[in-house]
Amino acid sequence: MAAHVTRIKGFADMFPPDSDAFLFLEETARRIFSRCGFVELRTPVLEYTDLFRRSIGEETDVVQKEMFTFPDRNDRLMTMRPEATAGVMRAYIEDARHTRESVSRLFTTGPMFRYERPQKGRMRQFHQLNCECLGSHSPYADADMIIMLMRFLREAGLTELTLKLNSLGCASCRPRFKEALVDYLKGLAGEGGLCEDCTRRMQTNPLRVLDCKQEGCRRLTDAAPRLLDYNCPDCRAHFDTVVRLLEAEKIPYELDHRLVRGLDYYCRTTFEVVSGNIGSQSAVAGGGRYDGLVKSLGGPDVPGVGFACGMERLALLLPERPAPRLDFYAVGMNEAGRDVCFSLAQRLREAGLTGEVHTGDGGFKSSMRQAGKSGARYCLIVGEDEAASGTVMVKNMDSGEQQAVPQSGVVEHLASTPGGIEHE
Ligand code: HAM
Repeated sequence: MAAHVTRIKGFADMFPPDSDAFLFLEETARRIFSRCGFVELRTPVLEYTDLFRRSIGEETDVVQKEMFTFPDRNDRLMTMRPEATAGVMRAYIEDARHTRESVSRLFTTGPMFRYERPQKGRMRQFHQLNCECLGSHSPYADADMIIMLMRFLREAGLTELTLKLNSLGCASCRPRFKEALVDYLKGLAGEGGLCEDCTRRMQTNPLRVLDCKQEGCRRLTDAAPRLLDYNCPDCRAHFDTVVRLLEAEKIPYELDHRLVRGLDYYCRTTFEVVSGNIGSQSAVAGGGRYDGLVKSLGGPDVPGVGFACGMERLALLLPERPAPRLDFYAVGMNEAGRDVCFSLAQRLREAGLTGEVHTGDGGFKSSMRQAGKSGARYCLIVGEDEAASGTVMVKNMDSGEQQAVPQSGVVEHLASTPGGIEHE
């Protein structure tokens, strides 16, 4: 036998119920986000590598270690998108969107790629639901995004989640914080020291030392300076308004001074939603404000705020939902019966019912076994007698009852039986 080709490590195939969960999440997201004025933007999965280097940041783990990057046939470096924000910014700039609308609300969904060590809730190909609101400096925009995210999660049936908040300050107050943090970290040299990664990060990206997962580093940074204490008056007022609006809407939150996010473009508000029920990869959503990003990519000076949810992680938390059931399974017992069933099935589907026509080989018994396996609520059987008399035997697969019904009245019959089928 020829050896079969396997899927790539960290990439998954998705059959139901996994694919059903994704469909449900996407439908719920579209419904909730469109209520807030979001429209859908689809961007390519492949972009020039430069886009991610310039937006996510050279010193981030994503750019340093996690991108799927390769040259194309003309030796230009391409990257499979590790997140959606950068591509949305590029599209927004290329489309000169700001000339047509003062605020753009853009929703994107699809696969993202990061070369990480796969584990529960962490894949190399994963999927995000991503929202960006471009064009508003207002803290009302931040709060509106966070409230919309929490509404979506609630509507999807996800509870027991914690919203974490912080503010990274801006270009004028963050350098002061960085200085104070580095001074503090240098002072730790004699205390057993930070891990190897953090010792390096202290030089390249000191904020990231705060969200190191190593026990030793966390203990050492417990008493580190806190971003909120270093926010300038404008950043502080912005943050206080966001918090006030969340409180007015009764959205519970926790302040988290370690919430610095892994991508470099953020300023002011940052947030994450975490779950205690999915192991170490606990963040189901993350985002924040990124006021300088569009400009840094060569676009207009337009502020923005956004977030992305990880669909695989949300799917792990979804309450179980009953699998959708077919309305009918149609079995023709001879050639004439098969023709009648085939045509009847087309009419029933046009009327909005769902169902399959038996196309397998084998005798009546095996057809009925298939009907049972399909999970359909009714089996429609047409043999010689039914074909001759223009009827169809309708068998209720739950009760076992069966009844001959005129072929022209099947839709009405199925709709009128107790617990009957609703159709369009
Ligand atoms: P992020 O925190 O890097 O932010 O990713 C957002 C979410 O994607 C995470 O909270 C997590 O649920 C999911 N995620 C990330 N990596 C993986 C993985 N390897 N496997 C499974 N799920 C994963 C961003 O990507 C920003 N672009 C969000 C944003 C939008 N900020 C502003 N606008």
